[in-house]
Amino acid sequence: MTIATPAGAATETRTPVLQARRLVKTFGRVVGLDGVSLELYPGEVLAVIGDNGAGKSTLIKCLTGAYVPDEGEIFLDGQPVHFKRPQDARAAGIETVYQNLAVSPALDVASNLFLGREVRMKGILGSVFRVVDQKGMRKQAREQLTSLGISTLQDVTVPVENLSGGQRQAVAVARAAAFGSKVVVLDEPTAALGVRESNQVLELVKRLRDQGIPVILISHNMPHVFEVADRIHIQRLGKRAATITPESHSMTDAVAIMTGASQA
Ligand SMILES: Nc1ncnc2c1ncn2[C@@H]1O[C@H](COP(=O)(O)OP(=O)(O)O)[C@@H](O)[C@H]1O
Ligand SMILES: [Mg+2]
Repeated sequence: MTIATPAGAATETRTPVLQARRLVKTFGRVVGLDGVSLELYPGEVLAVIGDNGAGKSTLIKCLTGAYVPDEGEIFLDGQPVHFKRPQDARAAGIETVYQNLAVSPALDVASNLFLGREVRMKGILGSVFRVVDQKGMRKQAREQLTSLGISTLQDVTVPVENLSGGQRQAVAVARAAAFGSKVVVLDEPTAALGVRESNQVLELVKRLRDQGIPVILISHNMPHVFEVADRIHIQRLGKRAATITPESHSMTDAVAIMTGASQA
């Protein structure tokens, strides 16, 4: 196994799109994050792995405005940011797809893609009477799905509750990628999916990256992580144990670092 520096690559000179420096988050006497740093670079998929309780969710929540860290700094495109709520992170271009609650089942695909960002009709109809431009939204929704290669989902008028788990996840990801986002964060996107659907979501993750949107992927699934990740941030007991790559380390190595059986 080759040596990985804690920062992943000691020679890295690019500015991270998203960076956390020494984040601390405590819950009473429980330490959720104990000085965690993370870097997400342009054009990459960064996986975050770790055992239960390692601090993955707390880390992601700090990055996406759901928690305010007690200490530490967060930078977006090199500029310090101070998110007080998830809307702040979202407005800054960080879109998060949570494991549950990703979509509204009763609404159709197009409405889900535009949820909270409905497009109004032009002129007085839209500005005064708040009439939504359903035709326009459906057209844009179709374009968005096509550009992400989501070919199984061309009927955007279908209520999301009639879709399979993988298709729902695809809608949630397409939505996250739709609005000029700088970063997409996916929390266990394949956890509830079968093999074929998982593969579709993984393809989608790669496509996001290839379209220039870096992705943070939290996952328990080592084969999935090793398939899509460019780098892998390993959390252990509230700290970053290492950042490795699928080239530098095997799955067995990653598990050993995760469980503390081995140092990076
Ligand atoms: N809201 C909370 N209140 C109290 N303790 C919490 C809270 N959120 C997380 N923790 C604790 O912080 C630690 C890290 O949790 P978490 O970030 O959820 O880990 P992971 O997502 O890696 O399983 C755990 O010990 C957990 O019990
Ligand atoms: Mg968690």
